[in-house]
Amino acid sequence: MTDLKRRDFLKASAAIAAASAAGGFSCVEMAKAAPIQPSTVDQVAIRVLVDGSYNLFLRPGQVNNVKIEPAPRQTDFRRTLHNQWGLSLLVESKSGADQHTVMVDFGYTPDALVNNMELVGVDPKKIEALIVSHGHFDHYGGLLGMLDKYRSALPADLTIYAGGEDNFCRRYAGPPGQLSEFGVLDRRELASRKVKTVLCESPVQIGHAFTTGKIKRTSVEKVLPNTFVEFAMKDGLGCNASHYLPAELAGKIVPDEHIHEHATCFNLKDRGLIVVSSCGHVGIVNSARQAMAVAGVNKVHALVGGFHLGPAPADYLNKVMAEIKTLNPDVIIPMHCSGDNFTQAVHAQMPEKLVLGTTGSRITFNA
Ligand SMILES: [Fe+2]
Repeated sequence: MTDLKRRDFLKASAAIAAASAAGGFSCVEMAKAAPIQPSTVDQVAIRVLVDGSYNLFLRPGQVNNVKIEPAPRQTDFRRTLHNQWGLSLLVESKSGADQHTVMVDFGYTPDALVNNMELVGVDPKKIEALIVSHGHFDHYGGLLGMLDKYRSALPADLTIYAGGEDNFCRRYAGPPGQLSEFGVLDRRELASRKVKTVLCESPVQIGHAFTTGKIKRTSVEKVLPNTFVEFAMKDGLGCNASHYLPAELAGKIVPDEHIHEHATCFNLKDRGLIVVSSCGHVGIVNSARQAMAVAGVNKVHALVGGFHLGPAPADYLNKVMAEIKTLNPDVIIPMHCSGDNFTQAVHAQMPEKLVLGTTGSRITFNA
């Protein structure tokens, strides 16, 4: 560990200890900083549990060896999949006889998440671990309610993997001067449901998946205006990120840079990396490059998830498109906050790579 990293690690540990003493929560660990060597997998299947739309007419299809299937037909006409601003994915993977299932993000509301889990036939007993991509309510809003419904079916030693301390900061939305609350993920609520939190500033292997750890910003991408964040612990709730910047140290509410957003990735045998970016505030290209560096793999098979390009000005979008072309993934699967502008750009410039999944659909990647 370098001196700088060690200093960060110690400060973060101290922050957690202080927070623990103040708020009474426990069960928070820092992931080890030791290098990982992600194993290859034979198959990855992503079921979209929550996204913004549902397409009844979606037909099964295949693009560059990636299969897409619609949601299962409902047997009770009174019930339907719920769509909302938010994302939740169930990710199953296979390597030989070895199988794993993880859940990435949890939508905006537990009602939609639990409803959709029932309708697509999720067996909660198969879920081994939880991953939260970043600290936005549209990605964790359904979490506590989902745990209330299914906690007894989930593993006794259930762990949620978060990118870092920043995931637990209090967020605000709206124009400067008119900010309103946008939630805060309460670790005490997780601990009370017997869920351990692991902070993954460094990459971590979770079943067959690996996380990117803190994503370096190496491309032309920048964080587009989104929420504001407060780096402070108040009455045991919030985050303590005092080892970052002077402005943050002062507990000032600042534009959100998503310091600890992380991506969930797989190394698909003979095909390359599947990079699942849930909101992509730090950039889908940055996320993919980080995954390549972590895994030591120079081929990206798939970019999947939210890329947060909806608010992108046209010239910025074109720059990101050029970088994505350089990455040359086999498929691009935009969801959630990627933006119609982005989907249209992919349709115009790389139509042979585009896969569109909606709520309930299942996307399968085979080696
Ligand atoms: Fe989002």
